[in-house]
Amino acid sequence: MGSMEDIVAEIKNCKKCELYKMKTNYVPGTGSPNAKIVFVGEAPGRDEDLQGEPFVGAAGKLLNEMLSKIGLSRRDVYICNVIKCRPPDNREPSEEEILACGDYLRRQLDVIKPNLIVCLGRVAAKFVFEDFGLEFTSISKVKGKVFEVERWDKKVKIYPIYHPAAILYRQQLREDYEKMFKNIALIAGLKRQPDLFDFIN
Ligand code: URA
Repeated sequence: MGSMEDIVAEIKNCKKCELYKMKTNYVPGTGSPNAKIVFVGEAPGRDEDLQGEPFVGAAGKLLNEMLSKIGLSRRDVYICNVIKCRPPDNREPSEEEILACGDYLRRQLDVIKPNLIVCLGRVAAKFVFEDFGLEFTSISKVKGKVFEVERWDKKVKIYPIYHPAAILYRQQLREDYEKMFKNIALIAGLKRQPDLFDFIN
C-alpha cells in the first residue's frame, strides 16, 4: 500500500497509460491525509494540468466556495481525481485509462480511510460505487442520496453529487447544490467550534 508520499511519488513517475505523454503535470491530490472527508472528481482540466493541483480552475473556485459555506477549507479535506493526468481536450477518460489509474485512488483511500467519500459527478461516482460493491445506475438517480458501506472496520458513507462544473453551466441547480453541501456537514457530523469544524464522534 505505502504512505501517501509513496503513492504520490509513484504517480509522478507513472507511465501506465498514454496520458502521461500529453500532460504538463501529474495531479495526485491535495489536502490532509488525515482528512475524514475525501472529494473525488473525474480528471484534471487545463488549469489543474498547469498547476499540478486538483480543482484550481472555475469548477474548483465553486468547490472552494461551497466548502467555505460549511466552514471547511481545502486543508481540512482531501481532494483528488479518479485520473491523475489530463485527458486531451478534457475528453472523458476511457475505460482503459480508468483501469490503469484507478488503483492510485484506491490506495489513497486506503491510506486516508475517510468516513465520507463525496463523489463529484458521474465518472467519480461510477468508479467509487463499483469499487465499494454498489450498483451504479446513473448520477441523476443516485445524486443527493447517502450510501453506506463497510470498509476499514467501520461504516463509510458515500455521497454522490453533481460535478461542480455542471453547476457552472446550470445555475438553476445552485440552490440544490448548496443544500447538498449543507448535507455533507450533517452526514459528516461536523460541529462548529470556535475556529474549526470537527467530528462529533
Ligand atoms: N474537474 C475534475 O473532475 N477535476 C479537477 O481536478 C478539475 C476539474
